[in-house]
Amino acid sequence: MLALVAGALWAMLPAYVPNNVAVLAGGGRPIDGGRHFAGRRLLGDGKTWRGTAFGTLGGLALASLLNLLQPAATGLLGADLPTFPPLAALGLALGAMLGDIGASLLKRRLGRQRGAAVPGLDQLDFVIGALALVALLAPAWTLATFSLERLVVIVVATPLLHVATNAGAYLLGLKSEPW
Ligand code: CTP
Ligand code: MG
Repeated sequence: MLALVAGALWAMLPAYVPNNVAVLAGGGRPIDGGRHFAGRRLLGDGKTWRGTAFGTLGGLALASLLNLLQPAATGLLGADLPTFPPLAALGLALGAMLGDIGASLLKRRLGRQRGAAVPGLDQLDFVIGALALVALLAPAWTLATFSLERLVVIVVATPLLHVATNAGAYLLGLKSEPW
């Protein structure tokens, strides 16, 4: 059980970190350049070039770090933890950012203001984006890494982790809403 949860979360870590880095690094020019569509912002001021770039780089940096730690962590946890080839790292990190951006696009179309909570979507948008892009960029690695068991753990555990880290970021004054 521990090995299963550890393996699942380890495999997703390069997708978890980009959102948090974006919160810290975000600001500046919004990706949509302030443009509107049908009376509403395309994405909103919460999706910036800087946040997206640093978020993606943060995920890539973490994947490299995990690659260095993998032998020691595998011994320690007794789990077969994956390492991240470059395309797998890129798929997870950039995919997480794109999933979050896609959700903002959807939220603006639905008339939700920037920062409005959409339970479910807010917690899983980046998981869907990350898995979709990594499957596209590194299909064999994705099949070998994300077993059905690990996917179940990810879908259950990610919303809990997301809620906890965002509540923490809110309490620290880093984020303006606790979701
Ligand atoms: N952020 C960013 N670029 C991104 C994602 C996030 O700059 N691609 C930064 C923004 O400062 C944003 C903060 O991280 O306000 C929190 O991210 P998130 O909760 O995803 O954005 P919201 O402001 O809630 O906007 P939305 O309603 O569109 O999700
Ligand atoms: Mg938000």
